[in-house]
Amino acid sequence: MVWKKVAKKDSIASGKGREFTVDDKKIAIFNQNGYHAIDGICVHQDGHIAPGKLDGDIVECPLHLWHYNIKTGELIDYLKDVKMQTYKVEARQDGIYIDI
Ligand code: FES
Repeated sequence: MVWKKVAKKDSIASGKGREFTVDDKKIAIFNQNGYHAIDGICVHQDGHIAPGKLDGDIVECPLHLWHYNIKTGELIDYLKDVKMQTYKVEARQDGIYIDI
């Protein structure tokens, strides 16, 4: 695992998510009581989850409204055993880093 800088500090609005491409992977980073990063592409039909509506720790995929926990990556409806990869995030002096 390697820490990589993915964004400028303060570039993700509070209560929102943003998608970044890191090593050809789409990663969604949410600024919701701290930063949380999970895979950015929904396991259902490749929806981009970063712009999804946030309700506490839960993000709703904009395409067909499946729900994921942004801290654990778990899909909380339909298929209980589905889990997206999560990544550690750190807000440092010079930007936002993830461990990928
Ligand atoms: S693509 Fe995400 S719910 Fe269908």
